[in-house]
Amino acid sequence: MPMIIALDGPAASGKGTLARRLAAHYGLPHLDTGLLYRATALALIEAGEAPDDETRAVAAARGLALTDFDEAKLRTRETGQAASIVAAIPGVRAALLETQRAFAARPGGAVLDGRDIGTVICPGAQAKIFVTASPETRAGRRALELAGRGGGADYAGILRDIRERDARDSGRASAPLLAAADAVRLDTTHLDVEAAFQAALEIVEARRSRV
Ligand code: CDP
Repeated sequence: MPMIIALDGPAASGKGTLARRLAAHYGLPHLDTGLLYRATALALIEAGEAPDDETRAVAAARGLALTDFDEAKLRTRETGQAASIVAAIPGVRAALLETQRAFAARPGGAVLDGRDIGTVICPGAQAKIFVTASPETRAGRRALELAGRGGGADYAGILRDIRERDARDSGRASAPLLAAADAVRLDTTHLDVEAAFQAALEIVEARRSRV
């Protein structure tokens, strides 16, 4: 039976790193669904359009190609903020739904991470993990990550961004950030990457043995 692993959680909670590690461990393809929203937002930024322009945002989401993502541009703070604005538009979410479901339907299974994987995209996923960490820990990690990419590491500004995005992602009407009823919560505040990976692996293995 193909295994789908769904990881959801707020910004910089560590779900991307966990998703990559789990995908490598099980030999499964991985989709970071945040990149789809970031790429939609970047298309608007580059065209000089506002991220809350619904018609343009939906057209940008429909026109996305899964390939040629420029991660350097997609991972900036500006693109992240704009991504959470386009992500609140129901038409944008609808435009990106089939791409995500098709990825999840690969014959061998898949790992997807995002905000609504366990609730909307793959409600039938065998393993669902809701990854959290304190806002301060997440801001510290994001500052390190952005510094590693050559960007500025303005901790206070990053913490502000994270709180703003948490509020927008959790408060929106369309597919808000929410743990699925059958998701296992994993708080990574006091875990390093290796410890978080081991904890995630235990969760997945426990689910697998139930199937
Ligand atoms: O990497 P980080 O956690 O900062 O963000 P991301 O996963 O790249 O997502 C960027 C934004 O896209 C989020 O703030 C969400 O608003 C949106 N998003 C979403 O709505 N649904 C998803 N499945 C993934 C991302």
